[in-house]
Amino acid sequence: MNGGLRIVVTGGAGFIGSNLVSWLLRRPAIGRVTVVDDLSTGSTSLLGGDLADVDFRRGSVLDADLLDAAMAGADAVVHLAALPSVPRSVADPMTTHHVNATGTLQVLEAARRAGGPLVVAASSSSVYGAQPVLPKVETSRAMPLSPYAVSKLATEAYLGSYSACYGLPVLPLRFFNVFGPRQRAGHPYAAVVPVWIDAALSGRPVPVHGDGSQTRDLTCVDTVCEVITTAITGRVVSPWPVNLALGTRTSLLDLARVLGEVLGSGLRVEHGPPRPGDVSHSQADPARLLELFPGTRAVALREGLERTVAWHREQHPATRSSTEAGGSR
Ligand SMILES: NC(=O)c1ccc[n+]([C@@H]2O[C@H](COP(=O)([O-])OP(=O)(O)OC[C@H]3O[C@@H](n4cnc5c(N)ncnc54)[C@H](O)[C@@H]3O)[C@@H](O)[C@H]2O)c1
Repeated sequence: MNGGLRIVVTGGAGFIGSNLVSWLLRRPAIGRVTVVDDLSTGSTSLLGGDLADVDFRRGSVLDADLLDAAMAGADAVVHLAALPSVPRSVADPMTTHHVNATGTLQVLEAARRAGGPLVVAASSSSVYGAQPVLPKVETSRAMPLSPYAVSKLATEAYLGSYSACYGLPVLPLRFFNVFGPRQRAGHPYAAVVPVWIDAALSGRPVPVHGDGSQTRDLTCVDTVCEVITTAITGRVVSPWPVNLALGTRTSLLDLARVLGEVLGSGLRVEHGPPRPGDVSHSQADPARLLELFPGTRAVALREGLERTVAWHREQHPATRSSTEAGGSR
């Protein structure tokens, strides 16, 4: 590590956070990466060999002393720590509020005490909720449908208010459906791509909530890491939320088809009832993103899925043993 920028990543042991840490450690402009994570949904195993190169601090973003220690001398904070699940928030709204909304407020207060590093934070396309306009443009009214979405609306609104009241440099980013390596299945709140890959590799049918006509703006995690890294090194700020997706629209049935092609075998789809709080269609208007980050590169769905499937095959005991035995799927 050199004397470059000092970055704190909250939630750095999670899916997006661990990918981002890998990106940051490979950029010459970055001097030190500190991770704050309570490992409630993340794992140090996702950081792999990078764990040795980061200043890892296990604890909660609700712990002000821990945040003060982590943020001393920081140039930027990427706030990803959250309970990132709609159904979990429906089951337990209060805990989601504490971690996601109050946690963001704690991070902003710590940033203020630390002298005002750039704060980049993860909001979510779920804030659009029942908003019917497609594609989703940041200026249309947020109509959240779940406690999770409300907590993310609070996140981005708190960032805007800290910019207005205290002059804090901020960048609230609305992530859409992010997928890629290190996104795990095997827990009750897992996202669609890892759940489907895991099911397919295990020979199980893939569960679809509803008829599968719902559409998503699937964003490869590399795109998210690239934008955040550029924001840090180029000091890009915006008090208003910015969509972080490139305006693609994939139905779940189309996703099943492309994934089946990547896996080399068709997926068996099993339809179940729609989930409360889920939105029907999600597609970003990327104009503001491209204005602030003109070089943003879209990763094609198939290419992103190929990388993701490769990671799952490495993790998956069944495919690992068949690969070791010289078999193929
Ligand atoms: N993955 C997506 O498609 C998506 C979409 C929209 C928004 N987001 C947002 O992006 C961020 C990262 O999501 P992810 O998919 O990587 O989820 P993740 O669950 O893999 O990562 C979240 C990380 O935060 C940590 N964490 C949770 N509570 C904490 C606390 N109180 N203190 C410290 N650490 C805590 C977890 O241990 C985990 O490592 C979240 O804020 C999420 O809401 C993700």
